[in-house]
Amino acid sequence: MSLVKKPFLSTADVSKEDVIAIFDRSALFKKEFEEKGRIDHLIKPNSLGQKVVTLLFQEPSTRTRTSFQLAALRLGLRVVLLDNMSISSMQKGETVGDTIRNAAAMQPDLLIGRFNEDLDAEEAIKALEIPVINAGLGAKEHPTQALLDAFTIREYRGQVEGERVLLVGDVLHSRVANSNLKLLRNLGAEVAYCAPEEFRPKDSLWQDVQHFPHRDEAVQWASVIMGLRIQTERHKDERSIGLTVANFRDRYRIGGDQLNHFREDGILLHPGPVIRGVEFSNYVLQDPRCHVLDQVTNGVYVRAALMSFMLGIEVSS
Ligand code: NCD
Repeated sequence: MSLVKKPFLSTADVSKEDVIAIFDRSALFKKEFEEKGRIDHLIKPNSLGQKVVTLLFQEPSTRTRTSFQLAALRLGLRVVLLDNMSISSMQKGETVGDTIRNAAAMQPDLLIGRFNEDLDAEEAIKALEIPVINAGLGAKEHPTQALLDAFTIREYRGQVEGERVLLVGDVLHSRVANSNLKLLRNLGAEVAYCAPEEFRPKDSLWQDVQHFPHRDEAVQWASVIMGLRIQTERHKDERSIGLTVANFRDRYRIGGDQLNHFREDGILLHPGPVIRGVEFSNYVLQDPRCHVLDQVTNGVYVRAALMSFMLGIEVSS
């Protein structure tokens, strides 16, 4: 496992073998929890020590923050949480980079951080000497979301290799899309997207990725549909996006009509938060092919598995 005691900032940091090891351990944790209601008994005595994980969240989060916390507690780790920057010294003028350096200087065994697109934050994380997990960095990457997405694809489609994954929505501003593209391709899936002009990615990473201008055609192609929220908070620095939510909904929302063209054994995913009626209709969220809450459940086990590897915790199978 190349991740032991190293930073995990991008899905480009993990090999296919590492991903398979993470998935196998995630599946073990999930099965064990379903059978026994616990996973901590799988940890080899003395391998946990008194390990402490610090969660540092500068940006809003529901699923990622609490699933990391829950996963850490299920493993038996201790957690320090700094997720309300209005009561941190950033209020007094301390920079985000210095906040990160100070949190790391207390020497937690692992730092899990979410930050906005601040170069200061990125520079500080990259220079840390303690292991760190990127829990969302601006519009760049969100690697653990991609891991749990791929794990969910494997669970409900049987494999990732050969799957046709369609991303629909604000691809340009989505860190989830970037992390997923790298990971899914590495695992042998095909990736395509369907997005309005305003939300089409421009950088070289996306140059050779297939784009579908029409939603219905895209849905027919896909075995996995992943909705992506309009990242309004990241549009601030740009001139007006010029696209209304109503326009987006008319041409890009997945609703009952689209499901009629979607294969019976296909699945629908979304990293959350889902804005009901914008990316997916209420009807779609109730369709048995929609696995949005299963992704959230899986997030706990995938994050537990990743942390256990990064901390060098021994797990008996
Ligand atoms: C995503 C994020 O924060 O990038 N959410 C998540 O972590 N589950 C997607 C989003 O905010 O739209």
